[in-house]
Amino acid sequence: MTRTALVTGGSRGIGAAISKELKAQGYAVAATYAGNDEKAAAFTAETGIRTHKWDVADYESSRVGLAHVEADLGPIDIVVANAGITRDAPFHKMTPEQWREVIDTNLTGVFNTVHPVWPGMRERRFGRIVVISSINGQKGQFAQVNYAATKAGDLGIVKSLAQEGARNNITANAICPGYIATDMVMAVPEAVRDSIIAQIPAGRLGKPEEIARCVSFLVSDEAQFVNGSTITANGGQYFV
Ligand code: CAA
Repeated sequence: MTRTALVTGGSRGIGAAISKELKAQGYAVAATYAGNDEKAAAFTAETGIRTHKWDVADYESSRVGLAHVEADLGPIDIVVANAGITRDAPFHKMTPEQWREVIDTNLTGVFNTVHPVWPGMRERRFGRIVVISSINGQKGQFAQVNYAATKAGDLGIVKSLAQEGARNNITANAICPGYIATDMVMAVPEAVRDSIIAQIPAGRLGKPEEIARCVSFLVSDEAQFVNGSTITANGGQYFV
């Protein structure tokens, strides 16, 4: 049986690596994106993976978008909630808007993506939820009060969903990537980035593919008993 996977923010960065890895593993994959039509089209041309544009921060857009994916590929068995943004600023400079944008996309976006497909997973008695959290949800980060709040919130979401889903063979787990070589990390000022790399015992940024392989384990049928857990993948930078 071919299972269907949905990856939010799945056409760029870590999400693109996850989409490709799941396709290579034989899943039917759909990826969402928020704004960059050009990159999404290039991703589809390169991989053959269909991309769908909607704002994960909006419940109705998510519900309608997810219904389209299901009409196209069949019921969604696997959700990888990966879409995320940063609006970094020291707290004394952080605006209510910067707070709200990050909460709406990173945290409410997880609710909006999982909630519409949850009843179907319960009915079919199978589901896999993977939420891409962050090292900064575990340790906090200067200039990321908003982002760290959402990434710590992800861990509460999966631990709670795990308890609700287990009786119907639905698992929910989180991955906390450390600093990975993506546009998001490359947007950090170079001097700051260099100081971050100096704190990583592995001596380098992670690769998106290294996170994708964690996802591929968690969504497999064999990972049924791994539920509510957090995989930390950060090159030894931080231990919980
Ligand atoms: N720890 C302690 N102090 C720090 C600091 C840190 N990590 N970073 C900056 N500071 C200090 C600076 O030295 C400076 O001090 P002084 O005032 O004494 O000079 C002060 O804080 C910064 O003040 P600014 O007014 O210059 O700050 P700014 O308004 O220009 O903001 C910034 C700059 C947004 C903090 C910028 O430095 C930045 O983007 N930093 C990176 C934050 C970060 O690590 N984000 C992670 C992005 S990657 C990601 O999120 C992916 C993931 O999941 C891992």
